[in-house]
Amino acid sequence: MIEFKSVAKRYGKKEVLHDISLTIPEGEIVSIIGGSGCGKTTLLKMINRLIPITSGDIVVNGTSVHDLQPVELRRKIGYVIQQTGLFPHMTIRRNLELVMDLHAIPNNGREETIRNMMDTVGLAQDLLDRYPIELSGGQQQRVGVARALIVDPEVILMDEPFSAIDPITRVSLQDELRSLQDTVKKTIVFVTHDMDEAIKISDRICLLREGYVEQYDTPEAILRNPATAYVESFIGKNRIWNSPEFIKAEDIMIEADNLCTPTDSLVRCIQKIKAMPQEFLIVVDKYSHKFHGLLNARMIREQDDLHKTAADIMKQPKAVAHVGDSLPDVLNTIRQLHRPYMIVLDDKECLAGIITQSSLVATMGSQYIDEEEVV
Ligand SMILES: Nc1ncnc2c1ncn2[C@@H]1O[C@H](COP(=O)(O)OP(=O)(O)O)[C@@H](O)[C@H]1O
Ligand SMILES: [Mg+2]
Repeated sequence: MIEFKSVAKRYGKKEVLHDISLTIPEGEIVSIIGGSGCGKTTLLKMINRLIPITSGDIVVNGTSVHDLQPVELRRKIGYVIQQTGLFPHMTIRRNLELVMDLHAIPNNGREETIRNMMDTVGLAQDLLDRYPIELSGGQQQRVGVARALIVDPEVILMDEPFSAIDPITRVSLQDELRSLQDTVKKTIVFVTHDMDEAIKISDRICLLREGYVEQYDTPEAILRNPATAYVESFIGKNRIWNSPEFIKAEDIMIEADNLCTPTDSLVRCIQKIKAMPQEFLIVVDKYSHKFHGLLNARMIREQDDLHKTAADIMKQPKAVAHVGDSLPDVLNTIRQLHRPYMIVLDDKECLAGIITQSSLVATMGSQYIDEEEVV
């Protein structure tokens, strides 16, 4: 865990970070994002004291960084930068050994550690005897990550590590970092200016603006509820539509009006169906809207005794959605069941709404319609 306690940074008279208080939980990836010059690198480098703190304190796993010796600090905190910082005249093996030398890691077992680390970051062993220039940008960056991990630090700081890498390799490095994190479970602070990258890899995102924390929350919360107009403009309007897993059934459902109660007679149900565009009725309690089942026109026509009630003949749907289910899950179920609609229930199993093919088209289509065009 890393705690920022009222941290400020001044360069000369100019304050570039103002009263930052922030907790980065153990084992999470937290992205620091913001425009150029907003203070991301400064914030990051104060954690390993590459940049001195003007006022306030940063506490890493219970110890103030002021109380850590530089050597101890570098050992506890790995650091990965965009320009990898590999020594060009040394092989990859030597580059990795060098860090182990610096941290006085004993010789025995080193080769095994190095080989394991190459596996961990997805590099072939034969690259160990090559020079950095003989590796692609993506491979060099993997070595950069291996070098940060090899002394088993508690925390890893990454400053725009993938920003100089081509887009395709970059996406795979992001995927790898996320799955690597699932095994190594380090606390990772990741600076980026790319919102897609932040959303993809982070447990939490800290959006900085001119040295202030504008919003600090999970990617989902930031996409759903941008705290300020600045956050909204930074993430881009309707940005949530690029992350369908964050879109919930309740965002796409519409109100259902084709309702009947369990005690409604079939005669009453027929009247209702005739008055509705839908071919079916949703059976719910009158006031609570507790969900009981479904019945359609065909099921009613098959009955000879129209004095029966809705409850007598209704059926359970093969699947229902709940308000918090994600859009991809809902779409999957609709596709698998070959049903043109889906009932959405709340956490008390009461009817919340319904998703139909036309409601999907309507809600998903609305994002492409510019508000101004509508006016
Ligand atoms: N050594 C320095 N001396 C004076 N000003 C600096 C120094 N380093 C950074 N700054 C200023 O501090 C602000 C934050 O810089 P930085 O943390 O590098 O931003 P970011 O990484 O978000 O682009 C910028 O206005 C930058 O010009
Ligand atoms: Mg920077």
